[in-house]
Amino acid sequence: MTSYESLIEDWNTLVANFENAEKSHDEYLRLQKDTTRLQNNSSRSVKSLLKTSGQVKSYLKKLEQSKDKPGEDENEKLEEINRRMIEIRTRLGEMQMELPAESNGFYLKIILGSNLNVSLLNPDDRYRYKEEYESFKMTVTYFIILTLFLAYIFPYRAMDAICNFLMVWYYCTLTIREAILRVNGSRIKGWWVAHHYISTVLCGIILTWRDDQCYKQFRGLFIFLSIYICLVQLMQCRYQTGCLRRLHSLGQRQSDMDITIEGFSSWMFKGLTFLLPFLIVAYIIQGYSSYRLFYMYLYQDCNEDWQVLALAFLFAIVAAGNCFTILRIVFRKIQERYSLSTRSRLVSKYRPKAI
Ligand code: COA
Repeated sequence: MTSYESLIEDWNTLVANFENAEKSHDEYLRLQKDTTRLQNNSSRSVKSLLKTSGQVKSYLKKLEQSKDKPGEDENEKLEEINRRMIEIRTRLGEMQMELPAESNGFYLKIILGSNLNVSLLNPDDRYRYKEEYESFKMTVTYFIILTLFLAYIFPYRAMDAICNFLMVWYYCTLTIREAILRVNGSRIKGWWVAHHYISTVLCGIILTWRDDQCYKQFRGLFIFLSIYICLVQLMQCRYQTGCLRRLHSLGQRQSDMDITIEGFSSWMFKGLTFLLPFLIVAYIIQGYSSYRLFYMYLYQDCNEDWQVLALAFLFAIVAAGNCFTILRIVFRKIQERYSLSTRSRLVSKYRPKAI
């Protein structure tokens, strides 16, 4: 075959393949347009159904609290409505998660801009993102422990600055990842996110503290507290990864972990009971750090550095907020232990819906 003929043959194949690729690309664009239209329709109906079901739910509650007791038949009907209502609202919640979020929220809008959609529409993707978040926390925490240990052995201001800078970056990154998790339906308490904002500020303030006698007085306690918190964070990450993997396995027959909702609940309470004493000790040390700083400010001539008072207040806020939130979480978990809506939410949290 001459080289001219071979060129024409290659050209014809290229044109034929191009035409096929163009056809399938046009089909893809058409489907994408249809998908966007269906997403918008579905978003509207889910939103309106959530509103209506919320109204019906509050009528139901009022009716239950009213003095006119319903008859036996009505009672049965009301029980049926209550049960169906939980199913319907759980499914509506799932449907909402399978649709793109309307907004990224204020913080992500500032950082990422408003037209970047960070919604993960599939429970498997949400699970993987969350798992990656936990493993990010673990890796960076190990690294922070190492730098803190080095700072303890080599007590130079530059070494402390590296640790604090690393912690500022870490907490800042956590706030962004947590904002993305929240857009994707994570029920992480507002306080934990606020706690990470405050920790960013706190480490930033220590970074600006000059290397004077007052700084040296507080340095040892801060390094000890930071190492202790990192160690507790590692335990917390293990607990949370354990919860996550078990939630993902709930109801999946082909999963490597055969677990029921009762099994999950008992594992979670065991983990929490193990973790709580370590968390309480961390909050006591945070409270003590606040006390030490106030003491230094008032009685040890450390009132020239604004950092002392600012840190004293921040440590007090963090310790009080942590204690209050932990108590709320434990009471809520005990109360919700047997609730039907909690059970159906947990089962569907990280499980893809079979279609
Ligand atoms: N940081 C990040 N995410 C957290 C969190 C925290 N401190 N505490 C809870 N979450 C997340 C959970 O992973 C879960 O996420 P999901 O909805 O995306 O699956 C959601 O918030 C709801 O969790 P919840 O059921 O309320 O609690 P939990 O059983 O997962 O964890 C604790 C309970 C008490 C173990 C946990 O909140 C904790 O360790 N808190 C202490 C944090 C702390 O004090 N840190 C500083 C000192 S180490």
